Amino acid sequence: MNPINTDTTAPSTKSIICRGYEPIAGYKLEMLIGRGGFGEVWRSEAPGGLHKAVKFVYGSTHEQRAVRELRSLERIKGVHHPFLLTLERFGVVDDRLVIVTELAGGSLEDVYNRHLERGSCGIPRVSLLSYLHDAADALDYLHTNYQLQHLDIKPGNLLLIGGHAKVGDFGLLKDLHEAECSMVGGLSPVYAPPELFDGRPSLHSDQYSLAVMYQELLTGTRPFGGRTIAQLATQHVHCAPNLAPLPAADRPVLARALEKVRQDAFLTSAGFMIPCQPPGGGLRLRWAGPGGPVRAKPGRVGPGQAGPGQGLGLAGGRAGPLRGMPELEVPRFSKIRWTICPQQI
Ligand SMILES: Nc1ncnc2c1ncn2[C@@H]1O[C@H](COP(=O)(O)OP(=O)(O)OP(=O)(O)O)[C@@H](O)[C@H]1O
Ligand SMILES: [Mg+2]
Repeated sequence: MNPINTDTTAPSTKSIICRGYEPIAGYKLEMLIGRGGFGEVWRSEAPGGLHKAVKFVYGSTHEQRAVRELRSLERIKGVHHPFLLTLERFGVVDDRLVIVTELAGGSLEDVYNRHLERGSCGIPRVSLLSYLHDAADALDYLHTNYQLQHLDIKPGNLLLIGGHAKVGDFGLLKDLHEAECSMVGGLSPVYAPPELFDGRPSLHSDQYSLAVMYQELLTGTRPFGGRTIAQLATQHVHCAPNLAPLPAADRPVLARALEKVRQDAFLTSAGFMIPCQPPGGGLRLRWAGPGGPVRAKPGRVGPGQAGPGQGLGLAGGRAGPLRGMPELEVPRFSKIRWTICPQQI
């Protein structure tokens, strides 16, 4: 991976991000793919006739979000896995953080929307499980080998390449061993686990988000139906999920993945979804791990099992952080922007 010039001493005269703009020599913007909470992503022509995705993070590089994203990128750049989106280059151009990655054909959010448009309630189970398996493999690899949690798992951040889902967007990446750094960023309140509202990510945080996503993308309903940040925060922290729209066999599995305190040693991400063939055909969910089915996927990176009690735990039931949360309607993929001070982690 080639670092881009990171000289931020020059006075800032920001170029306009538009078609034809070359933020890095040889990488010419062709088409805006989409905008998110903190930036925008373009399809670009790259040297050698290749095509890459170029993401611009909004704001100046000294702003907390960009600083955090840059740190996350430094951490992730040495980590390689078939289902982690490949980082090609990143750095600062015109005082803006620019990230070049491999170009995906779309995201899981796009797939879901296409199914809704066709009148279906969600993604068929076999495809959905296959995509979430890919993501779970990558997430398990991240936290088993590097003690990292992604913390922004949602459909728009699972990108599709060659029929597989790859995990992208590492802006909130968190090293669970790191005590000093404060956590700044945007949680996606629809998918965020209870402990994140308390500023305490755990070993099982990404798994919780995967479970929320599973129900939503399969059934078109969410386990927590809050419409404002405050409602969602309260529901994630205090309320039981509504699992009624799920097939009966899935409910106990989701109920465990969505527990307020998840401390079972075997509840790793990859342990979350194990498609197995019940006698009547079709796929259903089972837990992997002690007493559960052993999952073997030749050629794939194996998920290690986490040791007991490794989660950081959470101060369950504390309503404190919810006070003062804005009563704003939450668009599907909006984020909470806040700073969690170091002492809370
Ligand atoms: N490498 C990529 N290839 C193709 N599309 C991408 C790539 N990275 C992101 N996208 C798409 O570009 C759009 C904008 O992405 P962006 O990451 O800015 O926002 P988001 O994922 O919706 O929200 P967030 O800001 O929380 O990440 C999304 O639709 C996303 O799926
Ligand atoms: Mg994203």
